[in-house]
Amino acid sequence: MKDKLRAGVIGMGVGVRHACGYLEHKDVELVAVAAKDDLHKVSEKCPGFTGKVYEDAYEMLAKEKLDIVSVAVPNFLHKEFTIAALESGAHVLCEKPMALNASEAQEMLDASKRCGKKLGINFSYRFYPQSQAMKSIVDEGLLGNIYYGRTVWLRRRGIPGLNSTARTYGTWFFDKKRAGGGPLIDLGVHRLDLALWLMGYPEPEWVMASTYDKLARRMAAENGVEYSVEDMACAMIKFKNGATLELDAAWAVNIKEREFQQTRIAGEKGGLFQYNVNEEKKYEIEYYYDIDGRQFDSRLHTLTDVPSAYSQFVDAVRDDKPFSVTPEQGVTVMRILDAVYKSAAEGAPVKIG
Ligand SMILES: NC(=O)c1ccc[n+]([C@@H]2O[C@H](COP(=O)([O-])OP(=O)(O)OC[C@H]3O[C@@H](n4cnc5c(N)ncnc54)[C@H](O)[C@@H]3O)[C@@H](O)[C@H]2O)c1
Repeated sequence: MKDKLRAGVIGMGVGVRHACGYLEHKDVELVAVAAKDDLHKVSEKCPGFTGKVYEDAYEMLAKEKLDIVSVAVPNFLHKEFTIAALESGAHVLCEKPMALNASEAQEMLDASKRCGKKLGINFSYRFYPQSQAMKSIVDEGLLGNIYYGRTVWLRRRGIPGLNSTARTYGTWFFDKKRAGGGPLIDLGVHRLDLALWLMGYPEPEWVMASTYDKLARRMAAENGVEYSVEDMACAMIKFKNGATLELDAAWAVNIKEREFQQTRIAGEKGGLFQYNVNEEKKYEIEYYYDIDGRQFDSRLHTLTDVPSAYSQFVDAVRDDKPFSVTPEQGVTVMRILDAVYKSAAEGAPVKIG
């Protein structure tokens, strides 16, 4: 390769992880970042950064001739910055959730096709070694036909901003118009994508769901903050191939654990289970199988490190090969989320598509 690829990042919250990820890759140069009031974070958190900083992301796109742009801004801005970056000639790695809803996500997918540029979605939990190990077991056919899944991310009290000194309590995360929803669209998307990916992204058919706002709305009111999203969502998703997936997500629910994440899938020949340990973002996986009527359990120990989403996106652009999280998968996730919110609002099952 003659020259390094030129990368830029919009948004300096989780965007600093993208920036640091690009700084670590030998075939890309992080030439610029854009954000509003927290541009200083790039120099604090990514000490090797020597590029330009912009308060206007459109100016960065117009001036920098970027090959790769990460979009890591509040959810309501994903569509406009992704399409602008694609139209400027860049490949885009967009944060999750892909957009506020499926119709916005579809516009982004259409734009990537129209511009002939890659669009990846940062479902970052796929890039854990435990998730990759599960996927390779599935791909080896060791589970057989997968017909059941349960995928969960619950927090006892883990409302963005409330437990963190980094943000003021009451951010865009609580505003339905800017976030699209609460823990379902924030946390649930990760566990939903993980389960769907392991299950082979089957086509969804029906959703039956409930959402609640029993705790966080009251806590927000006590702090004088508006709160217009759910604090918990529970859903059952039925697929056209007959499989069923249960999905739960909460920022606040009265359970024992501070942080509780689990994804299990089960097939005719075996099952897999991923769970977090010590209420942290550390994971174990177990594999259950059956030989001649005898049931075995095993826990996987030696797992090889997996390159980050940022690194794999650069590789995909450099070598013109597919990136593992496709915009089509992002749209499917948004179609399911739309159906969850619709079913919860109507108190009835919702047919998708
Ligand atoms: N993949 C993950 O694990 C993960 C983790 C955290 C957040 N996220 C996602 O990343 C996105 C950002 O979340 P966050 O936690 O970083 O939020 P945040 O509020 O901490 O940061 C948002 C950033 O966007 C910038 N911004 C806002 N409006 C802008 C504009 N008009 N032009 C340029 N920059 C603008 C802000 O200055 C800030 O730097 C969300 O979609 C969130 O769901 C993903």
